[in-house]
Amino acid sequence: MIKNNIVTSSIKKRIIDILEENKDKRITGSTIAKRLDVTRSYVSKAIKELQTDGYDIIAENRVGYIYQNDVKVLKADAIKGKLTSDYEVIILDEVDSTNRYLKELAKNSTLKNILVVANQQTGGRGRLGRTFVSNKASGIYMSLLVRPDIPIHLVKKVTCMVSVATANAIDKLANTTTSIKWVNDIYLNKKKICGILTEGVALAEENKMEYIVIGIGVNCYHQDFGEELSKKATSLEDELHICISRNALISEIANQISFYFNDFERQSKLFMKEYKEKSFIIGMNVELQKGSSTTFAKVIDINDEGELIVEDEFHKIKSFSSGEITRTILK
Ligand code: BTN
Repeated sequence: MIKNNIVTSSIKKRIIDILEENKDKRITGSTIAKRLDVTRSYVSKAIKELQTDGYDIIAENRVGYIYQNDVKVLKADAIKGKLTSDYEVIILDEVDSTNRYLKELAKNSTLKNILVVANQQTGGRGRLGRTFVSNKASGIYMSLLVRPDIPIHLVKKVTCMVSVATANAIDKLANTTTSIKWVNDIYLNKKKICGILTEGVALAEENKMEYIVIGIGVNCYHQDFGEELSKKATSLEDELHICISRNALISEIANQISFYFNDFERQSKLFMKEYKEKSFIIGMNVELQKGSSTTFAKVIDINDEGELIVEDEFHKIKSFSSGEITRTILK
């Protein structure tokens, strides 16, 4: 009998096998304990871990467990099985940041395309030095390492392309219509469900990128964002009352991105048109922050370079290639 209290992955695997044999039926903790020659409290601890890994197991007080499904569980095979292009897939249970991890890996790897997915990030990074809340088994925390053969002047369009690819993937799998907030946040019902952080290293003197790391975070399941953040952020489950398969959505996002990278220059006409169509801030009055300066302006357009064209409060037309819309103002 196992005496110490550390739940091993092999025991977890054996418990899942037993639960699967009894799917949708009640099974007692003592039955599982007897079959594995462990204590009931050990089983209870293991089940709690499986629940936080994403397994949908109902624990009925003193009566037993009912296993329903593993829709929320990350699985490398399920992701790989649906990928249409060649990626080395790495799944991590926990990491500080998949972008940081992948940039480190890129230094020592000659692999062309790598996809890293984590079940949880302890230091998820957002744009402008912010953090990205990455609760365990609650969202998609993925980074793609790509080495696209595109000239430097087109690289700034990658961010727009990733926004369109991700928004389209979400729309397809969640059967919904998301919109984009310049530069690259994805919104549903006026709240943020997805953030994107693209980082790259250029090859000196070659007019192209050595690599680009594309980090994407999607809030999939109901979770505690805290009082402040929950005013601005939401999840697909909260808005649409669905439990999407993270595996399917990860593959779809990677596939859509590969599609646009294939013949990027020609595709850019298509995705920049889609980017504009999905942008909800055109025509709105906004507060725009760039560095330490704030501009109050009306958004006139987004041009083919992905720049925001605004008319400021003194009726001057200005363009912004970066910055942050901190507020939309109703007039
Ligand atoms: C933002 O909202 O400002 C961008 C958020 C980007 C979050 C993703 S989650 C996966 C990848 N790893 C990170 O540390 N950040 C990105």
